[in-house]
Amino acid sequence: MTRTDDDGSYVLQLTGEEAPFVFVVWNDQWRPRGEFYRPLTADAESRTVDFAMVKHAPAGAAFRFIVISDTHCNHPKHFKQLSARYAQLNELKPAFIAVTGDLTNHQVNKKYNVKRYAEWRKAKAGSTCPVIDVPGNHDTATPAGLAEYRESLGPTHHAFDFGDRHFVIFDSNRPNWRWVNADLDATPRDRKVIVFSHHGYSNRGKYMHGGLKKNWTRCEVLFFGHGHVHKSGVYKNLPYHMSGTIHQSFHLVDVAPAKLTVTWQPWENATWGQIKARFLSGKPATRPQAGVPD
Ligand SMILES: [Fe+2]
Repeated sequence: MTRTDDDGSYVLQLTGEEAPFVFVVWNDQWRPRGEFYRPLTADAESRTVDFAMVKHAPAGAAFRFIVISDTHCNHPKHFKQLSARYAQLNELKPAFIAVTGDLTNHQVNKKYNVKRYAEWRKAKAGSTCPVIDVPGNHDTATPAGLAEYRESLGPTHHAFDFGDRHFVIFDSNRPNWRWVNADLDATPRDRKVIVFSHHGYSNRGKYMHGGLKKNWTRCEVLFFGHGHVHKSGVYKNLPYHMSGTIHQSFHLVDVAPAKLTVTWQPWENATWGQIKARFLSGKPATRPQAGVPD
């Protein structure tokens, strides 16, 4: 990891242990035009990797983002439904949308595996704001799935600033604590940290607490999926929100410099039969009131 100079130039020494990418942890004023990563393909002693940047939200501005999860797309009808969901979300004018894993459904419908990420990219082009991908177990748990994900969507761990917050995309299938903690150590202490992960507090999130060590207390909130229903709570002083599937519910998050408001939202047209989908443990979901911050 390295920091750019004031003119945007940088030198990155490789050790051979990195993921096969160079990527930008974009800040609160500039983000890359197009993809935030480039594959490291050529085996050369030195190479030049440039990123064109564009201005975006000013530091400290209030903004809104949305968290959806577990879209499990592996059939043309799923991508059609996802496109319809993006059309609904566009109306809410988010700054970006995070999808907390199980974007696709690897190993369930092999017929469509081969083009699932091409379809995924096509569907998210229907969003009027950037869509932030987070890997789930159905995406990257297997070596083949990881290779496919990297080829189509880039690094599985990365981070960015927006407004006065720092956002971490965390690969809970194979946590890279060294990178995540180096990223957080390089982030100013007064910048609040929001984490997107696929697994949450109930299983792999427990070792997230151990892996983040002193950086755990810097986290403002953890968003995750995997359980397929809405659930909110606090684990070791860290508030968390688990989003439901594309059939159930999502989270609307309004961010102001000193305040974060998280609102549970059932999908428009979702039936209560879909909403009360059960936890993996078999317990029924608790029915929250739509629109009430939790
Ligand atoms: Fe899932």
